[in-house]
Amino acid sequence: AAGAAGAIIFNEGQQDRTDLLNGTLGEPSVTIPVVGTTFAAGQELSAAGTVARLKTDTTSAVKTTHNVIADSRWGDPKKVVHLGAHLDSVPEGPGINDNGSGSAAILEVARTLGKIPTRNKLRFSFWSAEEFGLLGAEHYVANLSAQELANTKLYLNFDMVGSPNYALKIYDGDDSDGEGAPAGPAGSDQIEKLFEKYFDALRQKHVGTDFDGRSDYGPFMDAGIPSGGLFTGAEGIKTAEEQKMFGGTAGQAYDSCYHQACDDISNINDKALALNTGAIATAAVTYAYATKLPGE
Ligand code: PHE
Ligand code: ZN
Ligand code: ZN
Ligand code: ZN
Repeated sequence: AAGAAGAIIFNEGQQDRTDLLNGTLGEPSVTIPVVGTTFAAGQELSAAGTVARLKTDTTSAVKTTHNVIADSRWGDPKKVVHLGAHLDSVPEGPGINDNGSGSAAILEVARTLGKIPTRNKLRFSFWSAEEFGLLGAEHYVANLSAQELANTKLYLNFDMVGSPNYALKIYDGDDSDGEGAPAGPAGSDQIEKLFEKYFDALRQKHVGTDFDGRSDYGPFMDAGIPSGGLFTGAEGIKTAEEQKMFGGTAGQAYDSCYHQACDDISNINDKALALNTGAIATAAVTYAYATKLPGE
Protein backbone atom coordinates (compact mmCIF):
# COMPACT_ATOMS: atom_id res chain seq x y z
CA ALA A 1 0.00 0.00 0.00
CA ALA A 2 2.84 2.35 0.81
CA GLY A 3 4.34 1.80 -2.63
CA ALA A 4 1.07 2.55 -4.34
CA ALA A 5 0.66 5.68 -2.27
CA GLY A 6 4.12 6.76 -3.33
CA ALA A 7 3.22 6.43 -6.98
CA ILE A 8 0.15 8.54 -6.35
CA ILE A 9 2.10 11.30 -4.69
CA PHE A 10 4.66 11.75 -7.38
CA ASN A 11 2.99 11.02 -10.68
CA GLU A 12 1.54 14.49 -11.10
CA GLY A 13 2.69 17.95 -10.30
CA GLN A 14 6.02 16.87 -8.98
CA GLN A 15 7.74 19.75 -10.68
CA ASP A 16 5.71 22.34 -8.81
CA ARG A 17 6.53 20.82 -5.49
CA THR A 18 10.17 20.46 -6.40
CA ASP A 19 10.25 24.20 -7.06
CA LEU A 20 8.81 24.82 -3.66
CA LEU A 21 11.23 22.44 -2.06
CA ASN A 22 14.10 24.22 -3.71
CA GLY A 23 13.42 27.16 -1.52
CA THR A 24 10.81 29.39 -3.11
CA LEU A 25 9.51 29.99 0.38
CA GLY A 26 12.97 30.51 1.78
CA GLU A 27 12.83 27.50 4.04
CA PRO A 28 16.05 26.35 5.65
CA SER A 29 15.07 22.72 5.46
CA VAL A 30 11.92 21.36 3.97
CA THR A 31 11.07 17.74 3.53
CA ILE A 32 8.03 16.08 2.09
CA PRO A 33 6.65 12.81 3.27
CA VAL A 34 7.74 10.06 0.93
CA VAL A 35 7.29 6.34 1.06
CA GLY A 36 9.44 4.88 3.75
CA THR A 37 9.54 7.95 5.98
CA THR A 38 7.89 7.68 9.35
CA PHE A 39 5.90 10.85 8.89
CA ALA A 40 2.58 9.28 9.75
CA ALA A 41 0.18 12.15 9.12
CA GLY A 42 1.57 12.85 5.65
CA GLN A 43 1.55 9.19 4.74
CA GLU A 44 -2.06 8.85 5.71
CA LEU A 45 -2.97 11.74 3.49
CA SER A 46 -0.94 10.33 0.64
CA ALA A 47 -2.57 6.95 1.03
CA ALA A 48 -5.92 8.71 0.78
CA GLY A 49 -4.93 9.92 -2.66
CA THR A 50 -4.37 13.51 -1.69
CA VAL A 51 -1.13 15.15 -2.67
CA ALA A 52 1.30 15.70 0.16
CA ARG A 53 2.29 19.16 -0.86
CA LEU A 54 4.68 20.80 1.49
CA LYS A 55 5.72 21.15 5.05
CA THR A 56 6.72 24.66 5.98
CA ASP A 57 9.02 25.37 8.90
CA THR A 58 8.22 27.49 11.89
CA THR A 59 11.46 28.35 13.56
CA SER A 60 11.82 29.65 17.09
CA ALA A 61 14.88 30.01 19.22
CA VAL A 62 14.69 26.41 20.33
CA LYS A 63 12.79 24.32 17.86
CA THR A 64 11.68 23.87 14.29
CA THR A 65 8.17 22.56 13.77
CA HIS A 66 6.24 21.70 10.64
CA ASN A 67 2.88 22.44 9.17
CA VAL A 68 1.50 19.54 7.15
CA ILE A 69 -0.45 20.69 4.11
CA ALA A 70 -2.26 18.45 1.65
CA ASP A 71 -4.16 19.34 -1.53
CA SER A 72 -6.88 17.30 -3.17
CA ARG A 73 -5.87 15.89 -6.55
CA TRP A 74 -8.75 17.53 -8.42
CA GLY A 75 -10.15 21.00 -8.63
CA ASP A 76 -9.24 24.44 -9.94
CA PRO A 77 -6.00 25.51 -8.23
CA LYS A 78 -7.18 29.09 -8.55
CA LYS A 79 -10.17 28.29 -6.33
CA VAL A 80 -8.83 26.85 -3.12
CA VAL A 81 -11.15 25.88 -0.26
CA HIS A 82 -8.85 25.62 2.76
CA LEU A 83 -9.66 23.67 5.92
CA GLY A 84 -7.33 23.69 8.92
CA ALA A 85 -6.81 22.41 12.44
CA HIS A 86 -3.82 22.67 14.74
CA LEU A 87 -1.97 19.44 15.34
CA ASP A 88 0.16 20.52 18.30
CA SER A 89 -0.86 20.44 21.94
CA VAL A 90 0.30 22.30 25.02
CA PRO A 91 3.33 20.61 26.61
CA GLU A 92 1.24 19.82 29.71
CA GLY A 93 -0.89 17.17 28.02
CA PRO A 94 -1.65 15.07 24.94
CA GLY A 95 -4.20 17.52 23.54
CA ILE A 96 -6.84 15.06 22.39
CA ASN A 97 -9.78 17.44 22.41
CA ASP A 98 -7.40 20.40 21.86
CA ASN A 99 -6.80 19.64 19.08
CA GLY A 100 -6.71 15.97 18.15
CA SER A 101 -10.46 16.39 17.65
CA GLY A 102 -10.24 18.98 14.86
CA SER A 103 -7.23 17.26 13.27
CA ALA A 104 -8.96 13.86 13.21
CA ALA A 105 -12.15 15.39 11.82
CA ILE A 106 -10.45 17.10 8.87
CA LEU A 107 -8.30 14.01 8.26
CA GLU A 108 -11.47 11.92 7.91
CA VAL A 109 -12.87 14.44 5.44
CA ALA A 110 -9.57 14.49 3.52
CA ARG A 111 -9.55 10.69 3.32
CA THR A 112 -13.12 10.65 2.05
CA LEU A 113 -13.06 13.56 -0.39
CA GLY A 114 -9.41 13.75 -1.41
CA LYS A 115 -9.82 11.33 -4.30
CA ILE A 116 -13.13 12.60 -5.65
CA PRO A 117 -13.33 14.92 -8.67
CA THR A 118 -14.36 18.39 -7.52
CA ARG A 119 -14.72 21.78 -9.17
CA ASN A 120 -12.62 23.65 -6.62
CA LYS A 121 -9.47 22.44 -4.90
CA LEU A 122 -9.57 21.34 -1.28
CA ARG A 123 -6.57 22.09 0.91
CA PHE A 124 -6.16 20.54 4.35
CA SER A 125 -3.70 22.06 6.81
CA PHE A 126 -2.49 20.59 10.06
CA TRP A 127 -0.93 23.61 11.76
CA SER A 128 2.02 23.49 14.07
CA ALA A 129 2.66 25.61 17.15
CA GLU A 130 -0.81 27.10 17.54
CA GLU A 131 -0.34 26.90 21.29
CA PHE A 132 2.76 29.09 21.05
CA GLY A 133 0.83 31.92 19.40
CA LEU A 134 -0.61 30.68 16.08
CA LEU A 135 2.96 30.36 14.76
CA GLY A 136 2.32 27.79 12.03
CA ALA A 137 -0.70 29.52 10.53
CA GLU A 138 0.93 32.97 10.87
CA HIS A 139 3.99 31.68 9.06
CA TYR A 140 1.92 30.16 6.29
CA VAL A 141 -0.19 33.24 5.62
CA ALA A 142 2.78 35.61 5.92
CA ASN A 143 4.66 33.61 3.26
CA LEU A 144 1.82 33.22 0.76
CA SER A 145 2.50 34.82 -2.61
CA ALA A 146 -0.01 37.41 -3.82
CA GLN A 147 -1.23 34.80 -6.31
CA GLU A 148 -1.70 32.09 -3.67
CA LEU A 149 -3.46 34.59 -1.42
CA ALA A 150 -5.83 35.47 -4.26
CA ASN A 151 -6.41 31.77 -4.96
CA THR A 152 -7.46 31.12 -1.35
CA LYS A 153 -11.21 31.68 -1.51
CA LEU A 154 -12.09 30.77 2.05
CA TYR A 155 -10.70 29.28 5.25
CA LEU A 156 -12.49 26.99 7.71
CA ASN A 157 -11.01 26.33 11.18
CA PHE A 158 -11.66 23.50 13.60
CA ASP A 159 -10.16 23.76 17.09
CA MET A 160 -11.75 21.77 19.94
CA VAL A 161 -14.77 20.13 18.33
CA GLY A 162 -15.42 17.31 20.83
CA SER A 163 -15.55 18.94 24.27
CA PRO A 164 -16.97 16.60 26.96
CA ASN A 165 -19.46 19.20 28.26
CA TYR A 166 -20.01 20.62 24.80
CA ALA A 167 -22.04 23.36 23.24
CA LEU A 168 -22.28 23.43 19.43
CA LYS A 169 -20.71 26.79 18.67
CA ILE A 170 -20.38 28.40 15.25
CA TYR A 171 -17.94 31.27 14.73
CA ASP A 172 -20.07 34.41 14.62
CA GLY A 173 -18.82 35.76 11.31
CA ASP A 174 -21.18 38.73 11.28
CA ASP A 175 -21.32 39.59 14.99
CA SER A 176 -25.06 38.91 14.77
CA ASP A 177 -25.32 38.81 18.55
CA GLY A 178 -24.27 42.48 18.45
CA GLU A 179 -21.74 42.07 21.22
CA GLY A 180 -19.28 44.17 19.28
CA ALA A 181 -16.89 41.29 18.66
CA PRO A 182 -15.11 41.67 15.35
CA ALA A 183 -17.05 40.56 12.30
CA GLY A 184 -15.15 38.49 9.77
CA PRO A 185 -14.27 39.51 6.21
CA ALA A 186 -17.18 39.76 3.76
CA GLY A 187 -18.53 36.29 3.08
CA SER A 188 -17.83 35.02 6.60
CA ASP A 189 -21.53 35.49 7.39
CA GLN A 190 -22.43 33.06 4.58
CA ILE A 191 -20.13 30.40 6.04
CA GLU A 192 -21.81 30.84 9.42
CA LYS A 193 -25.22 30.43 7.74
CA LEU A 194 -24.17 27.20 6.05
CA PHE A 195 -23.21 25.66 9.39
CA GLU A 196 -26.49 26.91 10.92
CA LYS A 197 -28.41 25.25 8.08
CA TYR A 198 -26.59 21.96 8.67
CA PHE A 199 -27.42 21.86 12.39
CA ASP A 200 -31.00 22.99 11.72
CA ALA A 201 -31.42 20.13 9.23
CA LEU A 202 -30.39 17.68 11.96
CA ARG A 203 -32.66 19.42 14.49
CA GLN A 204 -29.64 20.30 16.57
CA LYS A 205 -29.49 23.53 18.52
CA HIS A 206 -26.46 25.77 18.04
CA VAL A 207 -25.05 29.03 19.37
CA GLY A 208 -22.62 31.64 18.08
CA THR A 209 -19.13 32.20 19.44
CA ASP A 210 -16.99 35.30 19.17
CA PHE A 211 -14.83 35.59 16.10
CA ASP A 212 -11.97 36.97 18.15
CA GLY A 213 -8.95 35.42 16.43
CA ARG A 214 -8.14 33.00 19.25
CA SER A 215 -7.17 30.21 16.84
CA ASP A 216 -5.52 29.64 13.46
CA TYR A 217 -8.19 31.50 11.48
CA GLY A 218 -6.86 34.82 12.88
CA PRO A 219 -4.15 35.31 10.22
CA PHE A 220 -6.62 34.37 7.44
CA MET A 221 -9.17 36.84 8.77
CA ASP A 222 -6.51 39.54 8.96
CA ALA A 223 -5.61 38.81 5.34
CA GLY A 224 -9.25 39.44 4.35
CA ILE A 225 -10.11 35.82 3.50
CA PRO A 226 -13.74 34.82 4.27
CA SER A 227 -13.48 32.53 7.30
CA GLY A 228 -15.53 30.41 9.62
CA GLY A 229 -15.41 27.41 11.85
CA LEU A 230 -16.73 25.39 14.74
CA PHE A 231 -15.96 25.09 18.44
CA THR A 232 -17.43 23.20 21.41
CA GLY A 233 -15.97 25.30 24.24
CA ALA A 234 -12.77 25.36 26.28
CA GLU A 235 -12.29 26.73 29.83
CA GLY A 236 -15.55 28.74 29.67
CA ILE A 237 -18.54 27.75 31.80
CA LYS A 238 -21.71 26.21 30.35
CA THR A 239 -24.79 28.34 30.98
CA ALA A 240 -28.15 27.07 32.23
CA GLU A 241 -29.62 27.85 28.82
CA GLU A 242 -26.91 25.81 27.11
CA GLN A 243 -27.61 22.89 29.43
CA LYS A 244 -31.21 22.96 28.18
CA MET A 245 -29.99 23.03 24.58
CA PHE A 246 -27.16 20.49 24.70
CA GLY A 247 -27.46 18.56 27.95
CA GLY A 248 -24.35 18.28 30.08
CA THR A 249 -23.80 20.30 33.22
CA ALA A 250 -24.34 24.04 33.66
CA GLY A 251 -21.85 25.80 35.91
CA GLN A 252 -19.01 23.56 34.76
CA ALA A 253 -16.36 24.13 32.11
CA TYR A 254 -17.08 22.89 28.57
CA ASP A 255 -13.73 21.11 28.85
CA SER A 256 -12.54 20.75 32.44
CA CYS A 257 -9.30 19.14 31.15
CA TYR A 258 -8.47 22.11 28.91
CA HIS A 259 -4.68 22.41 28.58
CA GLN A 260 -4.15 19.68 31.18
CA ALA A 261 -2.71 16.17 31.26
CA CYS A 262 -6.23 14.73 31.44
CA ASP A 263 -7.02 15.97 27.89
CA ASP A 264 -6.58 12.35 26.84
CA ILE A 265 -8.56 9.92 24.69
CA SER A 266 -11.37 9.81 27.27
CA ASN A 267 -11.81 13.58 27.00
CA ILE A 268 -14.07 13.52 23.95
CA ASN A 269 -17.83 13.64 23.52
CA ASP A 270 -18.47 11.29 20.59
CA LYS A 271 -21.78 12.85 19.63
CA ALA A 272 -20.32 16.36 19.42
CA LEU A 273 -17.35 15.08 17.41
CA ALA A 274 -19.61 13.16 15.00
CA LEU A 275 -21.99 16.09 14.50
CA ASN A 276 -19.09 18.45 13.86
CA THR A 277 -17.38 16.02 11.49
CA GLY A 278 -20.64 15.95 9.51
CA ALA A 279 -20.69 19.74 9.48
CA ILE A 280 -17.12 19.82 8.19
CA ALA A 281 -17.91 17.27 5.47
CA THR A 282 -21.00 19.24 4.48
CA ALA A 283 -19.05 22.49 4.17
CA ALA A 284 -16.24 20.78 2.27
CA VAL A 285 -18.65 19.23 -0.24
CA THR A 286 -20.71 22.40 -0.59
CA TYR A 287 -17.71 24.60 -1.29
CA ALA A 288 -15.86 22.00 -3.36
CA TYR A 289 -18.64 22.19 -5.96
CA ALA A 290 -19.83 25.79 -5.56
CA THR A 291 -19.68 28.03 -8.63
CA LYS A 292 -20.09 31.08 -6.40
CA LEU A 293 -18.07 31.00 -3.20
CA PRO A 294 -18.76 33.14 -0.09
CA GLY A 295 -17.92 36.78 -0.69
CA GLU A 296 -18.10 36.42 -4.50
N1 PHE B 1 -7.20 28.27 20.39
C1 PHE B 1 -7.54 27.86 21.74
C2 PHE B 1 -6.52 26.81 22.16
O1 PHE B 1 -6.03 26.06 21.36
C3 PHE B 1 -8.89 27.29 21.87
C4 PHE B 1 -9.95 28.17 21.34
C5 PHE B 1 -10.49 27.93 20.09
C6 PHE B 1 -10.46 29.20 22.09
C7 PHE B 1 -11.49 28.75 19.59
C8 PHE B 1 -11.45 30.02 21.62
C9 PHE B 1 -11.97 29.81 20.35
O2 PHE B 1 -6.20 26.72 23.32
ZN1 ZN C 1 -5.11 25.04 23.34
ZN1 ZN D 1 -6.63 24.62 20.27
ZN1 ZN E 1 -23.78 35.58 13.37
